[in-house]
Parts: sequence; structure tokens; C-alpha cells
Amino acid sequence: MCGIVGYIGPRDATPIVLNGLKRLEYRGYDSAGLAVLQNGSIAVRRDAGKLDRLIDLVGQSPISGAPGIGHTRWATHGAPSARNAHPHLGSTGRVVVVHNGIVENFLELRDELTAEGVNFNSETDTETIVHLVEHYLATGLNLTEAARKTFLDIQGAHGIVLMSADEPDKIVCARLGNAGGVVVGLGEGENYIASDIPAILEHTRQVIFLESHQMAVVTREGARVESLEGKPVQAEVHSVSWDPVAAEKGEFRHFMQKEIHEQVRSLTDTLAGRVDFENGRIRLPELNLSPELAQRITKIFITACGTAAYAGMVGKYLIEKIARLPVELEIGSEFRYRDPIIDENTVVLAISQSGETADTLAAMEEGRRKGAVLWSIVNAIGSQAMRIADGYISMQTGPEIGVASTKAFTAPLVDLYMLAVLLAELRGVIDEQTRRNLVADLRFVPDLASRALNTEPIVEKVAWALKDVRDCLYLGRGINMPIAYEGALKLKEISYIHAEGYPAGEMKHGPIALIDRDMPVVCLAPRDPWYEKMISQIQQAKARGGTVVAVATEGDELVGGMADHIIPVPEAPWMLSPVVTVIPLQMLAYHIAAIRGLDVDQPRNLAKSVTVE
Ligand code: M6R
Repeated sequence: MCGIVGYIGPRDATPIVLNGLKRLEYRGYDSAGLAVLQNGSIAVRRDAGKLDRLIDLVGQSPISGAPGIGHTRWATHGAPSARNAHPHLGSTGRVVVVHNGIVENFLELRDELTAEGVNFNSETDTETIVHLVEHYLATGLNLTEAARKTFLDIQGAHGIVLMSADEPDKIVCARLGNAGGVVVGLGEGENYIASDIPAILEHTRQVIFLESHQMAVVTREGARVESLEGKPVQAEVHSVSWDPVAAEKGEFRHFMQKEIHEQVRSLTDTLAGRVDFENGRIRLPELNLSPELAQRITKIFITACGTAAYAGMVGKYLIEKIARLPVELEIGSEFRYRDPIIDENTVVLAISQSGETADTLAAMEEGRRKGAVLWSIVNAIGSQAMRIADGYISMQTGPEIGVASTKAFTAPLVDLYMLAVLLAELRGVIDEQTRRNLVADLRFVPDLASRALNTEPIVEKVAWALKDVRDCLYLGRGINMPIAYEGALKLKEISYIHAEGYPAGEMKHGPIALIDRDMPVVCLAPRDPWYEKMISQIQQAKARGGTVVAVATEGDELVGGMADHIIPVPEAPWMLSPVVTVIPLQMLAYHIAAIRGLDVDQPRNLAKSVTVE
């Protein structure tokens, strides 16, 4: 996950920014960089690899001055190289930027800027930001106004920090959507900016959290917060505790809520360096998937437990649909007792946040014993499921602390989609245009997640309406059927309300008998290929007096007219729609449990990692 630190004040920014970046290093990075204002010019040091390489570089070739900004990067556009590392300077060398997020319209913007004669020095989308700022500065605007116009031009979810040698008295920063936080730390005659509180905690406890669509002009004296439209904002100053655990929670009450909100960032990092948007290609180097292997695979068994298994169910849809390869989903605790038919052309693909779940590991061992190729999609770096696999995809979500898994559900959905596209290409079952279209759709994922998160106030109202129910039914069809299972699992594990996830088409074969006005029915009804079918399920539930909560596409008046509560989610390519539909269900479970005053992060009887059979 990218980290950002900025400093403005009388002291040398170099050690302050480097120390701040160090505090964020546990997330792991592929490149890092620093820019400071030194004798009226911007001096930059940046390198591929871990932060220590940057620290060595600065040791060999020191820079000092203030203000200063720094960044640790997970590559999204362009390989993790020194050239692509942040900060990025504009053509004049007078403006510099660091950034979290994906500029969704960067190809269009780059073409426009190139047509104006701008030269790009990196393969990153970030560079468009600094060139756009320079474009507006050249029209006579000052840095704040040029930055504002730039923020309005770029699409997607972002955290952005920039400074100019010509206006050394300020740093301008912004949060657009939910691509991770932008925190302004307030000191005495000096101020700080960071993506995460721990980066600046040693300097100040007084912080302002920028909301989405806000920017701040930070000077030595203070911070002026405004909406992107230029309206002043009376930002609340929060006092944060020195307790590192509380600090890690930042503006959130629980880790689960924080992790739900981190999904824009984790999804951005999931695409990091793996998606070549220009050529419409996927790179998953750690999977060790050769064309020869891709062609000889006859079957994939996906094995996992709990939430990870529901991600695997979505994966079955994706791999079968895109790569035309048969997939079986088998939960870890059953796999080895079933004597599955496996040979050396079978892949056993395990999905696990912890990489230490005993049942999942046992399933992998069974696969190994029978000669299968072993793959894993894992979050915990260096865990057993990663170590014993022949190839793996690492989830890039950062640590997940809440027992209820959230960001480690959406990341593998995208991993599985990327895997399906890569398999399809290597097996020659997809034409180039289809592949390019599928890859291009990935660009919108972080912003779609950001917009799904914006439904939180609506979801919270629904949570108040449902907080006292005893039972709840979740219905979905097709690719959103596993999301019904996942929504129900989230609710039961943290709110202790009995919940069932069900394939909507099966309702008439039994569960419909349960529906009355005391049984809320949560229906997943986005505009996907199963939409019409879901409409008739909603009608059936309504006809039995059920209270219907519908997760439906924004502006869907048909569903809006039928449901008792509607949670509108953005329209998404259907194969990526589970990423969007699950987010309100995570928030629904979270808010119901929080309203009920329960221990959201450590629910009774559950452990984060189940290392026994
Ligand atoms: O670490 P893993 O992903 O292997 O864990 C699997 C399940 O134990 C886990 O997903 C569990 O179901 C979560 N508590 C769900 O929120």
C-alpha cells in the first residue's frame, strides 16, 4: 500500500519525511522517493526497492531543505523502477507530486498533453497530474488554483500531495474518493501531511482527516481546507492517542470499519504492477505460469474456507467464463476426505488470508500428494500456503486485523479475474480485443469500490432498521450468489444474528416458507445477466410480506419501487460486480454489530486464523 509523508516548517524535511516513511514500511514497498526544496530548486532522490535503498542513496548524495514530500510505492502503471518511482517532477522541474490511486483517464490526458508538446519521463499515470498542474500554471493560475483544476480533471480515487519551488510557502494536498486517507498533522509553526497517522505521530497528535473531494493548502502556520469547488470547510481537529493500536485505527472506531474503507487502496495495490493497461495484458510473475503449463491444465480445484471459499466461488465463474477451463470449488475441510480426482494436469488453488488455515493447508497437501500443481492466493507474506505453493499471487491488502475478513475478500476477487484473463491468453481462448476490454475494465475497480463505500450513510439507516431482527435471508444469483453467502456470513459472525445465504432460484424449493414480515430478505439485484430473474425473486418475497433490502444499480427505479430499502451501487462490468455489491453488505453487518454494541473486531468464539482442524 502506498505511503505518503510531507513536511513544511523551519526544520530540514529530509529526516522527517524518511522517518515517516519508515513508520509505514511494514506494508512493504517496491520503490521510494523524496523531494525537498533546496536553495530555491526541487531536489529529488528516488530508487527502486525498499526504503533502505533510498536512505542509502540520500546518505551518498544528501539533499536537505523544506518543504519536502516523500512516497513509498506499489507500482500500478509502469514497472517498479527508479524512473517510475515517486515523486514526479513536471517539465519545468519546478513542480513535484506524490500520489496514491489510479488516474483512470490517464491515457486520454496523456494524449492531450503529448499533443501540446509535453514529454513524459515515466510510464506512470501520476505524471499526468504534475503536467496538468504545469499546464494550468502556464495560463497564469497560482498553484492552489492550478491544482484544483487538475483535481477536477482527473478521474478515479486519489490521495495527492504536491509542491512548487515558485510557491515555497505551501504544500497542496487532496483526497478524491477513498483511495486511502490524507491526514494533515498540526504542529507549532510547522505542519505535516501523511497517508497514515503513524507516519507523523512522533511530531503531533492534532490531526485533520480530509474527506473525499476536499483539498488543503498547508503552510507553516496552518491548513486551509476547502471543497474542490473552493468552498471553505471548517475541518474538525482530532486529538489522536499515542497508543499505536488506536493510532492505527485512525478515524475509525474499529479495525473492521477501517479495513472496509481501505479497500480502494488495497484494490489499487492489487492491480499494482500487474496490469499493463496500454497493452491490455496481465502479469503475475510469482505464479510461475508458463504457456506450456497453461495449455496442459485440464482442471482447477479451488480450495479455501469461510470468506476465502466464497471468493473462490466467484473465481469459478470467472475462470470458467473467461478461460473456459473447468473449475471445482471444494471447501478445505472436505477436500481431503473426498478422494478428489487429481493428476499432474490438475491445479489445486488455495485461497487464504492468513496462509495458515489448517484445513486449507491440508487440502494443499492432499493436492501435493496426488501430484497436482499447487497455487495459492495469500495475504500473509511468507506464510505456509505461500511457501509450499509452486506459484502464488500475493493479495496486497496489508495486514487484516478484524476477525471478519473484508479487504481480503475483494482483493482475491480481482486476483482471480486477472488469473482468468492470463490463463485465457496463454491458452489461446480469447481474442485480443476481448482481452483488452477485460483488462481495461480493471481500471475502474478502485473508483467503483470508492463509490460503493459512499453508500455508508444509507447502509447505516438500513442497519438501524434491521438491528433487532432474529433472522435474515440473503439471496443472489449467478456471480452474485456467493455474495449472498458472504453477506450472510458477515452478519452472523459479528452480529450473532442468524443469517442464511441462498441461491435466489432455490428459494421456491423451500426457504420461501420462512418469509414473513419478521424475516428481512437482502436481495442482490445489480444489472447483471441475472437481473430479470432477481426481479421476480423480489416480487415473490414481497408477495409473502417480506421486508426487502435490495442492493441495486444506481437509478434503478424498478427495484426502487419494489424494495423497502434500496442500497444503490454504481454500475459495474458484471464480472467485477461482486466487488461492488459486497461492500454495502460488509458495512451493513458492521453497523448492525456496532449498533448492538458488540465486539466487532473480536467476535465471540472466533479466531482470525483457524490453525486447527
Ligand atoms: O485465513 P483464511 O482466509 O484461510 O481464513 C479462512 C476463514 O477462517 C475466514 O475467511 C473466516 O471465515 C472469516 N472470519 C470470515 O470473515
